Amino acid sequence: MTQAAIAQPLSAEDIFAPQTQKSGMDRLRIVGGQRLNGTIEVSGAKNAALPLMCATLLSEDALQFTNMPTELGDIRTLVAVLQKLGTRAAYREDGVLVLQTKEITSLRAPYDLVRKMRASVLVLGPMLARNGEAEVSLPGGCAIGTRPIDLHLDGLKAMGAEIKLNEGYVKATAKDGLKGAHITFPKVSVGATENLMMAATLAKGETILENAAMEPEIVDLGDCLIAMGAKIEGLGTATIKITGVDKLHGCVHDVIADRIEAGTWMIGVCLTGGTLRLEKMRLDHLNSLIGPLKEAGLEIEEDGDAVICHRNGKPLIGTDIMTEPFPGFATDLQAQFMTMLTLCQGAGMVTETIFENRFMHVPELNRMGADIRTHGNSAIIRGVEKLTGAEVMATDLRASVALVLAALVAEGTTIVNRIYHLDRGYENIVEKLQAVGANIERIGPAA
Ligand code: UD1
Repeated sequence: MTQAAIAQPLSAEDIFAPQTQKSGMDRLRIVGGQRLNGTIEVSGAKNAALPLMCATLLSEDALQFTNMPTELGDIRTLVAVLQKLGTRAAYREDGVLVLQTKEITSLRAPYDLVRKMRASVLVLGPMLARNGEAEVSLPGGCAIGTRPIDLHLDGLKAMGAEIKLNEGYVKATAKDGLKGAHITFPKVSVGATENLMMAATLAKGETILENAAMEPEIVDLGDCLIAMGAKIEGLGTATIKITGVDKLHGCVHDVIADRIEAGTWMIGVCLTGGTLRLEKMRLDHLNSLIGPLKEAGLEIEEDGDAVICHRNGKPLIGTDIMTEPFPGFATDLQAQFMTMLTLCQGAGMVTETIFENRFMHVPELNRMGADIRTHGNSAIIRGVEKLTGAEVMATDLRASVALVLAALVAEGTTIVNRIYHLDRGYENIVEKLQAVGANIERIGPAA
C-alpha cells in the first residue's frame, strides 16, 4: 500500500542506527517434538524490500518505508551499498526506514559489498537512469547455481547503454540518457524485470517489457514507483508498459508481507501439527501452495488479514509439486515443502525448474533419516516414520530454514551450523518460533 504523502526529508539528527550484530557463525540448537501453537506476525517481504530500497536512487527526495524487515542481514548489506553511493539512511521507529539520495556521490558499487548479496545488482538500472553512468561489481557465483545477469545487461543495452566488463566490474554508460525500448525476455527473471522497470521510469519514451515477471514483489515495486510519479501499466501481467518521466519524487510506502516467510510457517505447522495464527499475511499471494498443503492435510481459514492453519494428528499425504515463476509454486518454498514430504504417507515428487543445483538440502535431510533420491532436476521423496536430530550445515537461505523445520519435528536434538544465511532472510526467527512453543535457542559458534 502506498500513500500519496511525501516522506519527511532527512534531518541532521537522523542517523542510521546499526542493528545488533549477530555472529553468522552462531548455531541453533533445536529439540524436536513440540507442536506449533500460537500467533506469528509475518514480517515485511525481504524480496520486495531490496528492490524498493534501490528505487531511492531514482529521486533526490526521501522515501519512507513502513513494514521494513530492518533486522535482516540483507537489508543491512544493501543500506551499506547505498551509503557508498551517497544515500543517507535512518530508522525512525520500529520497521520504518527512511532513505534519501540527494545526489549520487559515487558511481561504483564495490565488490566487497556486492559479493555479499546478489540483489545489489539492482542499483545498476536506477543509477544509470539518473546519472547516465554506473559501475557495479559482478555478483559472482552463488550456492544455488551460476545465476548470470545477462538479461539485465541485454535489456539495458537495448535501452541504449554501452556495457563494458572490466576486472570483474560492469561499467554501463548512457551519455545521452536511456531510451525506451521493446524488450522481450527470453526467460522470466524477477531481478531483470525490476532493474529494467526502474531504469525505464526515467528513460526517454516508452518501454515495453514482455515475458516480464508477475511476482507480487514486482507489483509492490511498481506501486511505489507510481507513487513516486512514474507511469506504469500492466503490473502483475506478463507485459509491462513504462512511459519515462523527467523526474520522480519521494513517497511513503508500506512493504508487502513476506509470502515466503508465511508459507514457511504454514508448512511448519503442517509438519509438527498444532494451530498457528499467521498475522499480516496475504493468502492470495500463496495460491500455488494452498492446494498442495490442503491435499497433504492442512486446514486453512482466513480471518481478516490473518490466516489460521490447523493440522490434526492424521498422517500427511504425499503430493507432487513443480517450481515455476509466479503464479506457479515458488522455488523459495521448495526446500521447505520437500522437508514436509519426508514424513508423508507414500511418496511425493519435487521438480525444480528455476535454479540448477537447488537440492543442497537433500544430503542433510537424508542424514536426518529422510529417504530422498534426486534425478536431474527432480527428487523422489519416500515418506519415512520419523526424522532424527543430527548436526547439520546450512547452505543457502531456504535450505537453512528447511533444516530448521526438519529439526522441529525430528526425534532428539539438532544443531544447525552457520546460521548466517537465516539471519539474511528470516527476521527474529528464534524469538518467533519460541513464542509458538518450539524448543529452539541460539548458541555460540563451536569451540
Ligand atoms: C529472485 C529472488 C529469489 C528467488 C528468485 C526466483 C530477490 C532478491 N530474489 O532472485 O529469492 O528465488 O527471484 O523466484 O527477489 N537468469 C538468467 N539471466 C539473468 C537473470 C536470471 O539466466 O540475467 C536466470 C537465473 O539464473 C535463474 C532464473 O533466471 O535460473 C530466475 O532468476 P531470477 O528470477 O532473475 O532470480 P533473482 O531475481 O536473482
